[in-house]
Amino acid sequence: MCSSDLFYSFHSFANQMSKIDAVLGSQWGDEGKGKLVDTIGNQYDLCCRATGGANAGHTIIYDNKAVAFHLVPIGVVQPQAKCIIGNGCVVSITTLFEEIESLRRIKVNIENRLFVSDRAHIVFNFHQICDGLNELNSGDLKIGTTKRGIGPTYASKMERYGVRMGALRNWDRFKEQYMRIYNIYRIRYNLQDYDYEGELAKIQSLLPELLPMIIDSVYEINKALDEGKKVLVEGANAPMLDIDLGTYPYVTSSSASIGGIVTGLGVSPHRVGTIFGIVKAYTTRVGEGPFPTEQLNAIGERLRSVGHEFGATTGRPRRCGWLDLVQVAYTTMVDAFDSLCLTKLDVLTGLETIKVGRKYLLDGKELPSMPAEAEDLARVEVVYDELPGWSEDISNVRSFEELPENARKYVEYIEKVLGVPIHFIGVGAGRDAVISH
Ligand code: GDP
Ligand code: IMO
Ligand code: MG
Repeated sequence: MCSSDLFYSFHSFANQMSKIDAVLGSQWGDEGKGKLVDTIGNQYDLCCRATGGANAGHTIIYDNKAVAFHLVPIGVVQPQAKCIIGNGCVVSITTLFEEIESLRRIKVNIENRLFVSDRAHIVFNFHQICDGLNELNSGDLKIGTTKRGIGPTYASKMERYGVRMGALRNWDRFKEQYMRIYNIYRIRYNLQDYDYEGELAKIQSLLPELLPMIIDSVYEINKALDEGKKVLVEGANAPMLDIDLGTYPYVTSSSASIGGIVTGLGVSPHRVGTIFGIVKAYTTRVGEGPFPTEQLNAIGERLRSVGHEFGATTGRPRRCGWLDLVQVAYTTMVDAFDSLCLTKLDVLTGLETIKVGRKYLLDGKELPSMPAEAEDLARVEVVYDELPGWSEDISNVRSFEELPENARKYVEYIEKVLGVPIHFIGVGAGRDAVISH
């Protein structure tokens, strides 16, 4: 066999490997990732979360009601799918069980279907308290976190005294690790009257149900792939909130871009298949930090009220503005999306013209990409393209051809700028309110 034959036979082997598809955001979160996961979820055997914690809020319409998911992968509503909260996640045990309870109330069965990685780190109550204290003590430099303890838990992980789910398999060892981290926090933050015994008792009471859910997810996910199972990852947060690549320091504390899938599940990049990027037809952001296309005017108000832009996790009003294609071109570059889903096109109906951020000027000079420094991003001047709007209700449209001409032009314009096909267009919150393109 000559070397080029060897190369091609190797490549055809690599291409036949079972792959993980990923649904990732492309902006500052809340793009509608959950909605696409729900729409395509019936195609998958295994649905996973790889990063983040209960800072995520993914809303779907289930049984005609809006249901928000924070830790549990949305795939749990698909009867054929098993779900795993991966090793890259941070998990508050009490929040997880509250979510499980609320799923039971709407008759979603999680028995033998929902698992948590033994390598996932535990969020304790003191992590959440200290998240709030960090914000309080930061004054004007606060981040606007969800106060779910995300930053402190990832910090504990990096400082190497974090406690992982697997430690719960041996209560004495767990207690020892718990006391070490609790004492570090108690001294560092001068915590008074913290009910650590109550916290331990609560966790212990949940063990009979929790322990069977704790698995070696790295082995199980790789085994599922070897067996030819179809695996989907539900991205959480978003690339502009990525700890390395986002608008630091106004970011979350995990890798919310493609890299987080690999480290957060323990899989090789060779295992990653189709990467779906979710692009909201405009931009929103929750929390602090620069937002070049923000509209602090009637347009912003309109996008918020028509798009129901209020945080699923904290209820905070989301900041709203025009679509920013400098930003989405950057996240498209980083994540190399194969396919895009443009959500909430229906929210733009009725606008006479629609603006889209196309270039950033800093001190009069065009920037080639997103600047690294938040201070620079706060100063950029945005150059906009302006496109004509449409007035027809599109919420019941189910084919691209039936969309008003200007709506089609808006979709095609985004495809052209980003150089990636838009295969799904969201025209409503329901699972079926999607146009395949
Ligand atoms: P995620 O965090 O990326 O999953 O997004 P969220 O669930 O936080 O926010 C998206 C919101 O928009 C949810 O309430 C969805 O039900 C809703 N949604 C998703 N796609 C569409 C769409 O195409 N049109 C409309 N009107 N709502 C949508
Ligand atoms: P989904 O998955 C929107 C934001 C917070 C805050 C910053 C840091 O629903 O798209 P953290 O609590 O993570 O330390 O907060 O990140 N943030 C999100 N904003 N959607 C999310 O997730 C977010 N997850 C974190 O608002 O500005
Ligand atoms: Mg959300």
